[in-house]
Amino acid sequence: MAKLLVTGGAGFIGSNFVHHVLGTTDDTVTVLDKLSYAGNLASLDGLDERRLRFVRGDITDAELVGELMPEHDAVVHFAAESHNDNSLHDPRPFLDTNIIGTYTLLEAVRRSGVRLHHISTDEVYGDLELDDPQRFTETTPYNPSSPYSSTKAGSDLLVRAWVRSFGVQATISNCSNNYGPFQHVEKFIPRQITNALRGERPKLYGAGANVRDWIHATDHSSAVLTILEKGAIGETYLIGADGEKNNREVVELILALLGQPADAYDSVTDRAGHDLRYAIDSTKLRTELGWEPEFRDFEAGLAATIDWYRDNEAWWAPAKDGVEAFYAAKGQ
Ligand code: NAD
Ligand code: DAU
Repeated sequence: MAKLLVTGGAGFIGSNFVHHVLGTTDDTVTVLDKLSYAGNLASLDGLDERRLRFVRGDITDAELVGELMPEHDAVVHFAAESHNDNSLHDPRPFLDTNIIGTYTLLEAVRRSGVRLHHISTDEVYGDLELDDPQRFTETTPYNPSSPYSSTKAGSDLLVRAWVRSFGVQATISNCSNNYGPFQHVEKFIPRQITNALRGERPKLYGAGANVRDWIHATDHSSAVLTILEKGAIGETYLIGADGEKNNREVVELILALLGQPADAYDSVTDRAGHDLRYAIDSTKLRTELGWEPEFRDFEAGLAATIDWYRDNEAWWAPAKDGVEAFYAAKGQ
């Protein structure tokens, strides 16, 4: 039984991870989350309060982080500014949370000796051509494109430096695009599902040829638990579930699952610097640590995600109008 400190546990993947930990282990969890626009306490509703404590606070607050750290066996670091489109509009919060926040946690684990698992993204590797037979591996050179991905790349490099120079007990994982419940409506899949549910047309950037490698958030959670249990200190593990799809295919599938015509979407202004394709080779995680994904049927996972958004309008509706106004101002 471990005592976990989970940063960003009120966000999309962090809350899915907390549900997974409380549902599959005897561990206890402290969530440290500042409840930015992306955090939502309702995502933790219904969980066992004897095993879950919530602390509202900022990971850049060194005093708070220093107080919390020694009470735990490990910190799982999800907290981040996570949206590429926001990073193109206003990069500064990405530097504060993703760089200074990670630095603050590293200094705290350096002092306390607590194990750190750092959650990162495949976007640190840049993008691939559509017909490139290679996928990203742990040895692919870093080549980030956006303010978001460059700050995540910077945070990964800080973790590696603190492991080598100070002996910090840390691991890193870089995962592909997640889908599932509790994802903010600013992101691609929830935006298109909630548009279609409200009778508005999904919005595809450009021609929709860009490819993302989809993984269910529960599979991301099980992979992180596996790395916490069996991962080697100092190592990086790529997490992916062989889920490559282009954006047009995803929109057409959402429309089909909702019984709407396949062409009932709008093509809108493309994202600046838009990465073409991500693809993960997760052989190391599978062969060295024995992890396998459970959600192998994307259509079934997407149908369940649509059901969740249909059943939980009260969770997403308060954010929807503001998000659409932000996009509309950019022609998206
Ligand atoms: P999210 O935006 O849904 O949630 C981020 C959470 O962090 C929110 O609850 C927010 O309140 C909190 N937070 C932000 N700044 C904070 C600060 N300074 N102090 C404390 N809390 C703060 O993000 P997500 O999509 O769940 O992503 C979680 C992590 O996973 C990020 O590190 C992201 O880079 C990584 N990741 C995401 C994906 C994906 O597909 N979404 C894929 C791979 C990796
Ligand atoms: O690859 C992992 C990354 O996946 C994570 O590190 C990020 O935190 C996460 O947000 C995600 O980044 P993307 O930029 O790939 O995700 P997003 O949901 O913003 O967009 C997915 C694709 O859909 C991308 O090609 C842009 C496109 N898109 C997005 C929106 C919001 C559209 O076509 N229309 C839209 O309305």
